[in-house]
Amino acid sequence: MTTPAAPSVLSFRPSDAVQRVIDTSLRVQQPQSSGDLVSLAMGEPDFDTPQQVRDAAAKALQDGYTHYSPLLGEPALRDELAIRIGGLLGSSVSTNDVLVTQGGTAGLAAAILGIVNPGDKVVIPDPTYSLYADLVSMAGGTIVPVPLAEDLHWDLDALAAALDGAKMFVFCNPSNPTGIVHSRAELEALAAMVAGTDILVLSDEAYSDLVYTPEPFTSALEIGGLAGRTIYCQTFSKSYAMTGWRVGYLWGPADVIASAARVHNTFNGSMNTAVQLAALTALQTCGPDIERMHASYKVRRELMYNGLKDVPGLTVSSPEGAFYLFPKYDADLPASEMVAHLRSHGVAVRPGSEFGRHGEHHLRLSYAASAEAITAGVERLAAGFAALK
Ligand SMILES: Cc1ncc(COP(=O)(O)O)c(C=O)c1O
Repeated sequence: MTTPAAPSVLSFRPSDAVQRVIDTSLRVQQPQSSGDLVSLAMGEPDFDTPQQVRDAAAKALQDGYTHYSPLLGEPALRDELAIRIGGLLGSSVSTNDVLVTQGGTAGLAAAILGIVNPGDKVVIPDPTYSLYADLVSMAGGTIVPVPLAEDLHWDLDALAAALDGAKMFVFCNPSNPTGIVHSRAELEALAAMVAGTDILVLSDEAYSDLVYTPEPFTSALEIGGLAGRTIYCQTFSKSYAMTGWRVGYLWGPADVIASAARVHNTFNGSMNTAVQLAALTALQTCGPDIERMHASYKVRRELMYNGLKDVPGLTVSSPEGAFYLFPKYDADLPASEMVAHLRSHGVAVRPGSEFGRHGEHHLRLSYAASAEAITAGVERLAAGFAALK
Protein backbone atom coordinates (compact mmCIF):
# COMPACT_ATOMS: atom_id res chain seq x y z
CA MET A 1 0.00 0.00 0.00
CA THR A 2 1.39 3.39 -0.89
CA THR A 3 1.05 6.29 1.51
CA PRO A 4 -0.65 9.28 -0.11
CA ALA A 5 1.62 12.32 -0.38
CA ALA A 6 0.88 14.92 2.28
CA PRO A 7 -0.87 17.91 0.71
CA SER A 8 1.45 20.88 0.51
CA VAL A 9 -0.10 23.65 2.57
CA LEU A 10 2.99 25.75 3.00
CA SER A 11 4.16 28.35 0.62
CA PHE A 12 7.67 28.92 1.85
CA ARG A 13 10.38 31.21 0.58
CA PRO A 14 13.72 31.50 2.39
CA SER A 15 14.47 34.78 4.12
CA ASP A 16 15.86 37.50 1.87
CA ALA A 17 19.27 37.02 3.55
CA VAL A 18 19.35 33.34 2.58
CA GLN A 19 17.86 33.97 -0.85
CA ARG A 20 20.66 36.46 -1.61
CA VAL A 21 23.20 33.74 -0.88
CA ILE A 22 21.31 31.20 -3.01
CA ASP A 23 21.13 33.69 -5.88
CA THR A 24 24.79 34.72 -5.84
CA SER A 25 26.83 31.85 -4.40
CA LEU A 26 29.49 30.36 -6.67
CA ARG A 27 30.15 27.44 -4.31
CA VAL A 28 29.51 24.07 -5.91
CA GLN A 29 28.70 20.87 -4.09
CA GLN A 30 31.19 18.21 -5.16
CA PRO A 31 29.56 14.99 -6.36
CA GLN A 32 30.22 11.94 -4.16
CA SER A 33 33.50 10.19 -4.98
CA SER A 34 32.92 6.79 -6.49
CA GLY A 35 34.82 3.82 -7.88
CA ASP A 36 38.37 4.34 -8.96
CA LEU A 37 38.32 8.14 -8.73
CA VAL A 38 41.51 9.82 -7.45
CA SER A 39 40.61 12.92 -5.47
CA LEU A 40 42.82 16.01 -5.57
CA ALA A 41 39.81 18.10 -4.56
CA MET A 42 40.14 18.08 -0.76
CA GLY A 43 40.41 21.26 1.24
CA GLU A 44 41.64 19.59 4.42
CA PRO A 45 44.76 17.93 5.82
CA ASP A 46 44.94 14.19 5.19
CA PHE A 47 46.62 13.76 8.61
CA ASP A 48 44.76 12.75 11.74
CA THR A 49 44.77 15.12 14.70
CA PRO A 50 47.91 14.51 16.84
CA GLN A 51 47.29 11.89 19.52
CA GLN A 52 47.99 14.13 22.52
CA VAL A 53 45.22 16.50 21.39
CA ARG A 54 42.73 13.64 21.17
CA ASP A 55 43.86 12.44 24.60
CA ALA A 56 43.37 15.94 26.03
CA ALA A 57 39.76 16.04 24.80
CA ALA A 58 39.05 12.60 26.26
CA LYS A 59 40.64 13.63 29.56
CA ALA A 60 38.67 16.88 29.70
CA LEU A 61 35.44 14.93 29.32
CA GLN A 62 36.50 12.36 31.93
CA ASP A 63 37.47 15.18 34.29
CA GLY A 64 33.96 16.56 34.06
CA TYR A 65 34.38 19.47 31.64
CA THR A 66 30.88 18.95 30.36
CA HIS A 67 29.34 22.30 31.23
CA TYR A 68 28.91 25.59 29.36
CA SER A 69 32.06 27.52 28.65
CA PRO A 70 32.18 31.33 29.10
CA LEU A 71 30.63 33.09 26.11
CA LEU A 72 33.87 34.44 24.65
CA GLY A 73 35.75 31.18 25.23
CA GLU A 74 37.79 29.30 27.88
CA PRO A 75 39.96 31.84 29.74
CA ALA A 76 43.08 29.61 29.67
CA LEU A 77 42.84 29.22 25.90
CA ARG A 78 42.18 32.92 25.34
CA ASP A 79 45.17 33.83 27.55
CA GLU A 80 47.46 31.60 25.50
CA LEU A 81 46.08 32.99 22.24
CA ALA A 82 46.57 36.55 23.50
CA ILE A 83 50.26 35.76 24.12
CA ARG A 84 50.66 34.43 20.58
CA ILE A 85 48.86 37.37 19.01
CA GLY A 86 50.97 39.73 21.14
CA GLY A 87 54.05 37.99 19.73
CA LEU A 88 52.95 38.85 16.17
CA LEU A 89 52.06 42.43 17.08
CA GLY A 90 55.18 43.02 19.13
CA SER A 91 53.07 44.38 22.00
CA SER A 92 50.85 42.82 24.62
CA VAL A 93 47.13 42.40 23.89
CA SER A 94 44.14 42.05 26.15
CA THR A 95 42.58 38.61 26.49
CA ASN A 96 39.24 40.48 26.34
CA ASP A 97 39.77 41.06 22.62
CA VAL A 98 40.19 37.37 21.79
CA LEU A 99 37.03 35.55 20.72
CA VAL A 100 37.05 31.77 20.35
CA THR A 101 34.81 30.66 17.47
CA GLN A 102 33.34 27.57 15.86
CA GLY A 103 36.24 27.22 13.39
CA GLY A 104 37.41 29.91 11.02
CA THR A 105 34.04 29.72 9.27
CA ALA A 106 32.13 31.08 12.26
CA GLY A 107 34.91 33.60 12.99
CA LEU A 108 34.54 35.00 9.47
CA ALA A 109 30.76 34.98 9.82
CA ALA A 110 30.85 36.78 13.18
CA ALA A 111 33.26 39.39 11.84
CA ILE A 112 31.42 40.06 8.57
CA LEU A 113 27.90 40.02 10.04
CA GLY A 114 29.13 42.20 12.90
CA ILE A 115 30.58 44.81 10.54
CA VAL A 116 28.70 44.93 7.24
CA ASN A 117 25.46 46.87 6.75
CA PRO A 118 23.24 46.59 3.67
CA GLY A 119 24.89 48.48 0.84
CA ASP A 120 28.37 48.57 2.41
CA LYS A 121 31.12 47.99 -0.10
CA VAL A 122 33.36 45.01 0.69
CA VAL A 123 36.39 44.40 -1.50
CA ILE A 124 37.63 40.85 -2.07
CA PRO A 125 40.28 39.45 -4.41
CA ASP A 126 38.97 37.47 -7.38
CA PRO A 127 39.44 34.54 -7.10
CA THR A 128 39.44 33.94 -3.34
CA TYR A 129 37.88 31.66 -0.72
CA SER A 130 34.21 31.60 -1.69
CA LEU A 131 32.77 31.92 1.81
CA TYR A 132 33.61 35.65 1.97
CA ALA A 133 31.24 36.60 -0.85
CA ASP A 134 28.44 34.45 0.58
CA LEU A 135 28.74 36.09 3.99
CA VAL A 136 28.77 39.58 2.50
CA SER A 137 25.68 38.65 0.46
CA MET A 138 23.98 37.41 3.61
CA ALA A 139 24.70 40.73 5.32
CA GLY A 140 23.34 42.60 2.29
CA GLY A 141 26.69 44.19 1.46
CA THR A 142 27.96 44.92 -2.01
CA ILE A 143 30.88 42.75 -3.11
CA VAL A 144 33.60 44.40 -5.14
CA PRO A 145 35.78 41.64 -6.62
CA VAL A 146 39.25 42.73 -7.72
CA PRO A 147 40.84 40.53 -10.41
CA LEU A 148 44.29 39.24 -9.47
CA ALA A 149 47.38 39.94 -11.54
CA GLU A 150 48.66 37.28 -13.96
CA ASP A 151 50.97 35.84 -11.24
CA LEU A 152 47.95 35.47 -8.89
CA HIS A 153 49.23 38.19 -6.54
CA TRP A 154 47.30 41.45 -6.05
CA ASP A 155 47.09 43.91 -8.89
CA LEU A 156 47.99 46.88 -6.67
CA ASP A 157 46.55 49.58 -8.96
CA ALA A 158 43.26 47.74 -9.33
CA LEU A 159 43.13 47.12 -5.58
CA ALA A 160 43.77 50.78 -4.73
CA ALA A 161 41.00 51.86 -7.10
CA ALA A 162 38.53 49.30 -5.70
CA LEU A 163 39.20 50.31 -2.10
CA ASP A 164 37.88 53.81 -2.70
CA GLY A 165 34.80 54.16 -0.46
CA ALA A 166 35.02 50.58 0.85
CA LYS A 167 34.09 49.52 4.37
CA MET A 168 36.33 46.50 4.42
CA PHE A 169 38.86 44.38 2.53
CA VAL A 170 38.77 40.62 3.11
CA PHE A 171 41.56 38.29 2.01
CA CYS A 172 43.39 35.12 2.95
CA ASN A 173 47.12 34.73 3.26
CA PRO A 174 48.35 32.18 2.23
CA SER A 175 45.62 32.04 -0.36
CA ASN A 176 42.98 29.46 -1.00
CA PRO A 177 42.58 28.68 -3.93
CA THR A 178 45.74 30.11 -5.53
CA GLY A 179 48.42 28.79 -3.15
CA ILE A 180 50.29 32.10 -3.29
CA VAL A 181 51.65 33.96 -0.24
CA HIS A 182 51.38 37.75 -0.02
CA SER A 183 54.77 39.15 0.88
CA ARG A 184 55.64 41.77 3.47
CA ALA A 185 56.04 44.27 0.60
CA GLU A 186 52.50 43.56 -0.64
CA LEU A 187 51.09 44.00 2.85
CA GLU A 188 53.02 47.27 3.23
CA ALA A 189 51.50 48.41 -0.07
CA LEU A 190 48.04 47.57 1.26
CA ALA A 191 48.77 49.56 4.43
CA ALA A 192 49.72 52.57 2.31
CA MET A 193 46.45 52.29 0.36
CA VAL A 194 44.23 52.30 3.45
CA ALA A 195 46.19 54.93 5.39
CA GLY A 196 43.97 57.82 6.46
CA THR A 197 40.72 55.88 5.82
CA ASP A 198 38.36 53.92 8.08
CA ILE A 199 38.70 50.78 5.98
CA LEU A 200 38.87 47.59 8.04
CA VAL A 201 40.99 44.64 6.93
CA LEU A 202 39.90 41.06 7.62
CA SER A 203 43.01 38.89 7.37
CA ASP A 204 42.22 35.18 7.26
CA GLU A 205 45.51 33.43 8.01
CA ALA A 206 44.18 29.87 8.19
CA TYR A 207 47.23 28.47 6.34
CA SER A 208 49.93 30.60 8.00
CA ASP A 209 51.91 27.53 9.12
CA LEU A 210 51.98 26.15 5.57
CA VAL A 211 54.44 28.43 3.79
CA TYR A 212 57.31 27.28 1.55
CA THR A 213 58.83 30.59 0.43
CA PRO A 214 62.42 31.51 1.42
CA GLU A 215 61.00 34.69 2.97
CA PRO A 216 59.31 33.92 6.31
CA PHE A 217 55.55 34.41 6.46
CA THR A 218 54.39 37.89 7.46
CA SER A 219 51.10 38.30 9.29
CA ALA A 220 49.05 41.45 8.70
CA LEU A 221 49.47 41.99 12.45
CA GLU A 222 53.20 42.56 11.90
CA ILE A 223 52.55 45.55 9.63
CA GLY A 224 52.30 48.77 11.65
CA GLY A 225 49.85 50.39 9.22
CA LEU A 226 47.51 47.39 9.30
CA ALA A 227 47.58 46.17 12.91
CA GLY A 228 45.16 48.78 14.29
CA ARG A 229 42.53 48.13 11.61
CA THR A 230 42.92 44.37 11.15
CA ILE A 231 40.58 41.65 12.29
CA TYR A 232 42.78 38.57 12.52
CA CYS A 233 40.98 35.29 11.82
CA GLN A 234 42.60 31.95 12.66
CA THR A 235 41.60 28.32 12.85
CA PHE A 236 43.02 25.13 14.29
CA SER A 237 41.74 23.23 11.25
CA LYS A 238 44.76 23.34 8.95
CA SER A 239 47.86 23.79 11.17
CA TYR A 240 46.83 21.11 13.65
CA ALA A 241 44.79 18.84 11.33
CA MET A 242 41.69 19.61 13.40
CA THR A 243 39.03 20.29 10.76
CA GLY A 244 36.39 18.20 12.53
CA TRP A 245 36.86 19.88 15.90
CA ARG A 246 35.52 23.25 14.79
CA VAL A 247 37.68 25.69 16.67
CA GLY A 248 39.15 29.00 15.60
CA TYR A 249 39.46 32.56 16.89
CA LEU A 250 39.30 36.25 16.14
CA TRP A 251 41.29 39.17 17.43
CA GLY A 252 40.94 42.84 16.46
CA PRO A 253 39.93 46.33 17.58
CA ALA A 254 37.95 46.04 20.84
CA ASP A 255 34.67 47.47 19.50
CA VAL A 256 34.80 45.30 16.38
CA ILE A 257 35.40 42.16 18.45
CA ALA A 258 32.55 43.14 20.79
CA SER A 259 30.26 43.36 17.76
CA ALA A 260 31.49 40.00 16.39
CA ALA A 261 31.02 38.47 19.86
CA ARG A 262 27.41 39.59 19.81
CA VAL A 263 26.88 37.67 16.55
CA HIS A 264 28.78 34.66 17.91
CA ASN A 265 26.76 34.52 21.12
CA THR A 266 23.48 35.02 19.31
CA PHE A 267 24.16 32.24 16.81
CA ASN A 268 26.16 29.74 18.87
CA GLY A 269 26.00 30.52 22.54
CA SER A 270 29.29 29.28 23.91
CA MET A 271 31.82 26.88 22.40
CA ASN A 272 32.35 23.21 23.21
CA THR A 273 34.34 23.18 26.47
CA ALA A 274 36.38 19.97 26.00
CA VAL A 275 37.33 20.97 22.46
CA GLN A 276 38.75 24.26 23.72
CA LEU A 277 40.86 22.48 26.32
CA ALA A 278 42.15 20.14 23.60
CA ALA A 279 42.93 23.20 21.46
CA LEU A 280 45.00 24.58 24.34
CA THR A 281 47.00 21.34 24.37
CA ALA A 282 47.46 21.70 20.61
CA LEU A 283 48.92 25.19 21.08
CA GLN A 284 51.22 24.03 23.85
CA THR A 285 52.51 20.77 22.37
CA CYS A 286 52.08 20.55 18.58
CA GLY A 287 55.17 22.45 17.39
CA PRO A 288 56.88 19.20 16.26
CA ASP A 289 53.65 17.96 14.65
CA ILE A 290 53.35 21.15 12.62
CA GLU A 291 56.94 20.69 11.44
CA ARG A 292 56.34 17.05 10.54
CA MET A 293 53.24 17.85 8.49
CA HIS A 294 54.92 20.84 6.86
CA ALA A 295 57.85 18.67 5.74
CA SER A 296 55.45 16.14 4.25
CA TYR A 297 53.40 18.77 2.35
CA LYS A 298 56.63 20.24 1.05
CA VAL A 299 57.65 16.96 -0.59
CA ARG A 300 54.19 16.43 -2.06
CA ARG A 301 54.07 20.01 -3.33
CA GLU A 302 57.25 19.35 -5.35
CA LEU A 303 55.81 16.11 -6.66
CA MET A 304 52.63 17.78 -7.89
CA TYR A 305 54.38 20.85 -9.27
CA ASN A 306 56.94 18.81 -11.19
CA GLY A 307 54.20 16.61 -12.62
CA LEU A 308 51.98 19.49 -13.70
CA LYS A 309 54.56 21.84 -15.15
CA ASP A 310 55.18 19.51 -18.10
CA VAL A 311 51.52 18.98 -18.99
CA PRO A 312 50.94 20.68 -22.37
CA GLY A 313 48.26 23.36 -22.17
CA LEU A 314 48.75 24.07 -18.44
CA THR A 315 50.50 27.08 -16.90
CA VAL A 316 51.44 26.51 -13.27
CA SER A 317 52.56 29.33 -11.00
CA SER A 318 54.98 28.62 -8.20
CA PRO A 319 53.23 27.10 -5.16
CA GLU A 320 54.14 29.28 -2.18
CA GLY A 321 51.75 28.21 0.56
CA ALA A 322 48.64 26.34 1.77
CA PHE A 323 48.34 22.98 -0.04
CA TYR A 324 46.93 24.11 -3.35
CA LEU A 325 48.06 24.61 -6.91
CA PHE A 326 45.97 26.74 -9.25
CA PRO A 327 47.03 26.01 -12.83
CA LYS A 328 45.57 27.88 -15.77
CA TYR A 329 44.63 25.88 -18.87
CA ASP A 330 44.34 27.05 -22.44
CA ALA A 331 41.53 24.74 -23.65
CA ASP A 332 38.31 26.47 -24.69
CA LEU A 333 36.12 24.85 -22.04
CA PRO A 334 34.57 26.41 -18.93
CA ALA A 335 36.15 25.18 -15.68
CA SER A 336 32.98 23.39 -14.56
CA GLU A 337 32.95 21.36 -17.81
CA MET A 338 36.70 20.77 -17.59
CA VAL A 339 36.22 19.34 -14.09
CA ALA A 340 33.49 17.00 -15.39
CA HIS A 341 35.75 15.96 -18.28
CA LEU A 342 38.64 15.22 -15.91
CA ARG A 343 36.32 13.25 -13.65
CA SER A 344 35.54 11.03 -16.61
CA HIS A 345 39.31 10.43 -16.76
CA GLY A 346 39.31 9.40 -13.11
CA VAL A 347 40.53 12.51 -11.26
CA ALA A 348 38.54 14.95 -9.11
CA VAL A 349 39.66 18.59 -8.92
CA ARG A 350 37.81 21.86 -8.24
CA PRO A 351 36.80 24.44 -10.84
CA GLY A 352 38.58 27.78 -10.44
CA SER A 353 35.29 29.52 -11.25
CA GLU A 354 33.97 28.39 -7.86
CA PHE A 355 36.28 30.98 -6.28
CA GLY A 356 35.35 33.96 -8.44
CA ARG A 357 34.65 34.79 -12.06
CA HIS A 358 38.33 35.44 -12.72
CA GLY A 359 39.11 31.91 -11.55
CA GLU A 360 37.59 30.73 -14.84
CA HIS A 361 39.97 28.55 -16.92
CA HIS A 362 41.83 27.53 -13.77
CA LEU A 363 41.68 24.38 -11.67
CA ARG A 364 42.34 24.01 -7.96
CA LEU A 365 44.34 20.94 -7.04
CA SER A 366 45.14 19.92 -3.48
CA TYR A 367 48.32 18.12 -2.53
CA ALA A 368 46.92 17.15 0.85
CA ALA A 369 46.74 13.69 -0.70
CA SER A 370 49.07 10.67 -0.72
CA ALA A 371 52.09 10.62 -3.06
CA GLU A 372 50.43 7.76 -4.95
CA ALA A 373 47.21 9.75 -5.39
CA ILE A 374 49.17 12.80 -6.57
CA THR A 375 51.15 10.76 -9.11
CA ALA A 376 48.10 8.90 -10.42
CA GLY A 377 45.94 12.07 -10.38
CA VAL A 378 48.48 14.09 -12.37
CA GLU A 379 48.81 11.24 -14.92
CA ARG A 380 45.03 11.11 -15.34
CA LEU A 381 44.84 14.86 -15.65
CA ALA A 382 47.52 14.79 -18.35
CA ALA A 383 45.58 12.05 -20.17
CA GLY A 384 42.41 14.15 -19.88
CA PHE A 385 44.17 17.14 -21.45
CA ALA A 386 45.73 14.99 -24.17
CA ALA A 387 42.28 13.67 -25.08
CA LEU A 388 41.11 17.22 -25.82
CA LYS A 389 43.74 17.86 -28.48
C1 LIG B 1 41.05 30.34 3.59
C2 LIG B 1 40.17 29.58 4.52
N1 LIG B 1 39.68 30.20 5.59
C3 LIG B 1 38.87 29.58 6.46
C4 LIG B 1 38.50 28.28 6.27
C5 LIG B 1 37.55 27.68 7.25
O1 LIG B 1 38.07 26.65 7.95
P1 LIG B 1 37.40 26.11 9.29
O2 LIG B 1 36.00 26.58 9.35
O3 LIG B 1 37.52 24.62 9.20
O4 LIG B 1 38.21 26.66 10.39
C6 LIG B 1 38.98 27.58 5.16
C7 LIG B 1 38.59 26.18 4.92
O5 LIG B 1 38.82 25.59 3.89
C8 LIG B 1 39.84 28.25 4.26
O6 LIG B 1 40.33 27.64 3.19
